[in-house]
Amino acid sequence: MKWMHFVLVIGALSLTACDHSTPHAAAPVAKSPAHVTSAPKKATAFAPPSESDIPNDDFGKQVALGRQIFIDPGQYAKAYVGNSLSCENCHLDAGRLAHSAPLWGAYPMYPAYRSKNHHVNTFAERLQGCFQYSMNGKAPPADDPVLVALETYAYWMSKGEPIGTSLPGRGYPKLPKPAIAPDYARGEAVFKRDCALCHGDNGQGQRAAGRTVFPPLWGPQSFNWGAGMEQVNNAAGFIKANMPLGRGDTLTDQDAWDVAYFMDAHERPQDPRFKGSIAETRKAYHDTPESLYGTTVNGQQLGQGTAGK
Ligand code: HEC
Ligand code: HEC
Repeated sequence: MKWMHFVLVIGALSLTACDHSTPHAAAPVAKSPAHVTSAPKKATAFAPPSESDIPNDDFGKQVALGRQIFIDPGQYAKAYVGNSLSCENCHLDAGRLAHSAPLWGAYPMYPAYRSKNHHVNTFAERLQGCFQYSMNGKAPPADDPVLVALETYAYWMSKGEPIGTSLPGRGYPKLPKPAIAPDYARGEAVFKRDCALCHGDNGQGQRAAGRTVFPPLWGPQSFNWGAGMEQVNNAAGFIKANMPLGRGDTLTDQDAWDVAYFMDAHERPQDPRFKGSIAETRKAYHDTPESLYGTTVNGQQLGQGTAGK
């Protein structure tokens, strides 16, 4: 995987950084690629098949294509992608890692009612949502080859699972409410200490040879205001379990909430459902304490979008 080389280098760097500046110096730092994607932190009931188990036939070709799209949608599903992220950036290990919203956790749970759009969603529609919001792009039509390949990949990965049973490891962990309300300044301190090394001082990530090595956390190339990661509770759960990369589950819950709040208090592309004013859009889609859309943080009203920037 593209970032693994960097993790090796950075693992060594951050060990030094940690020793000096953090109370988490005892936390294990990724030393080998195996560490990075290895054993999930909590019990899981399901072990998904690996890439080498993909059958060598026409069905397997669709599985492999789905996997490629998932890892590099900017190349394999270009028409539907509007930022520099990949599905894998938020669903680690090609959608296999527990507690990182794995595909095997999702697939057997659809069709499902979603309060986000107030109706029963097929799995295809759930995938469409990711393209529209997390990828800041366009929804592929339901019978589009891109969706067929992604569905085939998720179906293959879920073989042998019970239908309609939510397995441990599905989604991102739900963290208990923090002891004190999340705070921008504290979050900024966590960001500088534990995140900026990879995601950059300005959260814009790092690219090399035209490819994303460390994904942007906000700004024009990140997920938009309609995405799930925009909700502070989702972001806190993801970050707690998976970040800093290779050192998941080492932040305190409070640090995870604070840094999630800091990340989500930055500007990003407009919600594609924008209703003409920030206030109306907040009322329609963001009327929850978990969304900072439309609120004022540090004197700036959030929800302006990044068009033209
Ligand atoms: C910016 C991060 C991000 C990116 C990029 C992203 N997703 Fe997601 N995805 C999320 C979040 C957040 C959720 C909601 C997780 C939860 O409910 O616990 C989610 C949920 C899902 C689910 C449903 C999970 C479940 O258990 O019901 C599927 C399937 C999915 N994403 C597929 C994709 C695909 C395919 C792509 C690429 C086209 C993609 N995602 C890109 C953040 C992302
Ligand atoms: C060692 C490098 C490294 C560090 C340190 C790190 N990350 Fe990440 N982060 C990554 C990589 C690489 C990915 C994409 C993972 C993949 O594609 O498999 C990622 C993905 C993410 C994502 C989802 C994708 C996106 O752009 O929205 C978020 C959110 C995130 N990191 C937040 C954080 C936060 C917050 C911290 C600090 C607590 C942090 N990261 C520390 C390397 C790092």
